[in-house]
Amino acid sequence: MNAGEYQLLKVLGDAKFHSGEALAGRFSVSRAAIWKRVRNLNQVPGIDIQSVRGKGYCLPAPLDLLDADAILARIGPARRSRLLKLALLPVVPSTNEYLLNQRNPLLHSGHACVAEHQTAGRGRRGRQWVSVFGNNVYLSLAWRFDLSMADLAGLSIAAGVAVARALAARGLRGHGLKWPNDVHVQGKKLAGILVEANGEMEGPCLAVIGIGLNVRLPASAGGDIDQPWTDLAACLASLPDRNALVGDLLGALVDVCIQYQQQGLAPFLEAWKEYDIYMGKPVELQVGDERITGVYAGLSDQGGLVLDSPAGRRTWYSGEVSLRSKT
Ligand code: ATP
Ligand code: BTN
Repeated sequence: MNAGEYQLLKVLGDAKFHSGEALAGRFSVSRAAIWKRVRNLNQVPGIDIQSVRGKGYCLPAPLDLLDADAILARIGPARRSRLLKLALLPVVPSTNEYLLNQRNPLLHSGHACVAEHQTAGRGRRGRQWVSVFGNNVYLSLAWRFDLSMADLAGLSIAAGVAVARALAARGLRGHGLKWPNDVHVQGKKLAGILVEANGEMEGPCLAVIGIGLNVRLPASAGGDIDQPWTDLAACLASLPDRNALVGDLLGALVDVCIQYQQQGLAPFLEAWKEYDIYMGKPVELQVGDERITGVYAGLSDQGGLVLDSPAGRRTWYSGEVSLRSKT
């Protein structure tokens, strides 16, 4: 999406009709150029500009577009001083990838990235994160840790606790965490967290924590998701302002990174228990082509999954397994 298209989208964001002529005058381009911009915008998943003869162009619902100043205004000065910068991008392949690809990654501690749309949003192990334009949250924060790669294994657990708490502060109830990185509401996936790191095995490392949160995801987009999912619109009586929500999540991530560097996973383990949706329940682990059943016995001190099975108690780590309920 080029700058001209993004500017046009901002104007159409009021969901009122704008004639081609008025838009052409406003941007000092031809009506044909406006039509072309509209056509390109309508290629973007999540954008559906209607065109009505004699009335002009109109979006079906108002857009609550992201605004960097509004996001940063939510973050107090102490935490803000730890942020290097906030990149707000209309479209990006992946906010995680954007931060991981920066030159000299270790110099990017505190670099955040938020986007309206990801063309290649990703989950764990090459899976896709459906990331249509607008109305949702695709947010990443890069942070330098003077810890080994192994020490970072619990970071997605700590981030999950922070996201669950931030959502509770926004009025969400009944949500829980599914090891190692998902926020669920009544068995449906609301948000996911992906931590990716690069650097030296023994540290320092640059970790990128990415949060994907459905705020208002159109049913049409949900067709590409191969498991039950939900969004905040279905869970809350009134939706929070999206910039405030992103600001709160970003501030919470800054706090997590500061605390994790100093104290590791330990302070987050108790809080995880409050939200853990599988504690004491029969579950199935998918390990490659193998299925292992047992009873979920919580987390190890390093954030691994502890499973009690007929073969005994064993801890599993997130790189190798997927957790499923045993029905
Ligand atoms: P696990 O982490 O236990 O392996 P998972 O199936 O949730 O389980 P992840 O890699 O964590 O896998 O997340 C990616 C998955 O999330 C996708 O395969 C899809 O099922 C689901 N998904 C993709 N986009 C969305 C979205 N916007 N909202 C909810 N769920 C989504
Ligand atoms: C998961 O459930 O596996 C994690 C999904 C994480 C999605 C977020 S969206 C922002 C960031 N950028 C990505 O490409 N992925 C994460």
